[in-house]
Order: sequence, then C-alpha cells, then structure tokens
Amino acid sequence: MKDFLIAPSILSADFARLGDDVAKVLAAGADVVHFDVMDNHYVPNLTIGPMVCQALRDFGIKAMIDVHLMVKPVDRIVPDFAKAGANLITFHPEASDHVDRTLGLIKEQGCQAGLVLNPATPLSCLEYVMDKLDVILLMSVNPGFGGQSFIPGTLDKLRQVRRLIDESGRDIRLEIDGGVKVDNIREIAQAGADMFVAGSAIFSQPDYKAVIDQMRAELAH
Ligand code: DX5
Ligand code: ZN
Repeated sequence: MKDFLIAPSILSADFARLGDDVAKVLAAGADVVHFDVMDNHYVPNLTIGPMVCQALRDFGIKAMIDVHLMVKPVDRIVPDFAKAGANLITFHPEASDHVDRTLGLIKEQGCQAGLVLNPATPLSCLEYVMDKLDVILLMSVNPGFGGQSFIPGTLDKLRQVRRLIDESGRDIRLEIDGGVKVDNIREIAQAGADMFVAGSAIFSQPDYKAVIDQMRAELAH
C-alpha cells in the first residue's frame, strides 16, 4: 500500500486535556500531529502557539508535529516553533512578504518546509520554489475553522498539483486540509493526496481508532 499519512488536526481536540487527547489519537494509529496556529489577523480565529507545542513535547509526545501557520507576519514565529519541537512548518504565501526567504528560514531552523494554498490561491505561487518544498498543502476549506465542508473543486486542483510534483521528480508530500471524512478520503487520495488532515471527523467520535481504521481501509482500495 502507498505510504499515506493521517494527521489529526488538534484544533478539534479537547484543549482542557490536550496532552492526553493527543496521546490518545496517536495510540489510535495517527501518524502526525497537525497543529493549527491562528492569529486573529491573517485568519479570524485565535488558537495556540509555540508554548503549547513545547508543552506537548514535554508531555512526551514523540510523533511528527506538522505546524500549519495561519499567521501574519510569518518569519518571527518560525524559530520559536523550531525550538519548541516542530518538524514541519507550513505557511500561506499571502502572509509572507518574501516567500523564498521564509522557506529558507524554516530549513535553516532544521525543519521541513511547505506552502499552503487557499482555495482561491493559484498554483503559479509554486513556480520558482518547487526545489525548496517538502510539502504542498492544499486547503479544501477557507482557513480559520474546523468542521467546514470539503470544497469539491479542490479535487481538480489536487490532480494538477500531483502532476506538477510528478514532473518535478522531487519527493514532495501533497497534504490536504479541510472537510476530510471517511466517505471522501478515497476520492481525495485518487486525486493525488498522500497526507490527510482530519479534525472534526476524528475528534467528534468517541472511538478515534475506529475512524482512523475506516480511513485506512478506504485508502487501501
Ligand atoms: C482550518 C484548519 C484545519 C481544520 C480541519 O483552518 O487548517 O486543519 O482544523 O478541520 P476539519 O477536518 O474539521 O475540516
Ligand atoms: Zn490546518
């Protein structure tokens, strides 16, 4: 089976018991912790920062932490997240004045780097930086909130990005974020995604393992 990563978005976790809830979702079979950072400026919501990332590491969370920055400006928070234990840092090109510089900064800090494309962001922003990307993250909702519905046009966009990645010959992950559920994950994978963020679909259910197992079963088809 292809190497697929399931990355629960802890935006939908129980913030009052975050360490336990993250440990529980990893024990249930999740691969990656998707960590949504919102600043009430670039997006209309406010969440968690580097201190919470560090707290998860101190609590004993060893899994890959995928920090999705929805903040503006981007650069000054990058070193803090690297120190706090982030493995992958992604950001929105609209939020950085110097995208190439920000990608370089993330790499210098020892993290993998990725760009996040909003539903209306054109693929042209990938031109000239493909060689610096470890991940391309396509938003299938407008960023800011969990629990929104998958925007169907994202499937075509995924196919186009998959083609670009394949043509580049580089090992770039194609991550999808927003409205991913058991009943649509298969067609999302068929369109080219190989890393799946899912927040409400997992954390709204009492049995995380059951949901993750169902997702993997869909991906095995
Ligand atoms: C939205 C966030 C997502 C979100 C996904 O801005 O980036 O990671 O939490 O949540 P669901 O899976 O509920 O759409
Ligand atoms: Zn996210």
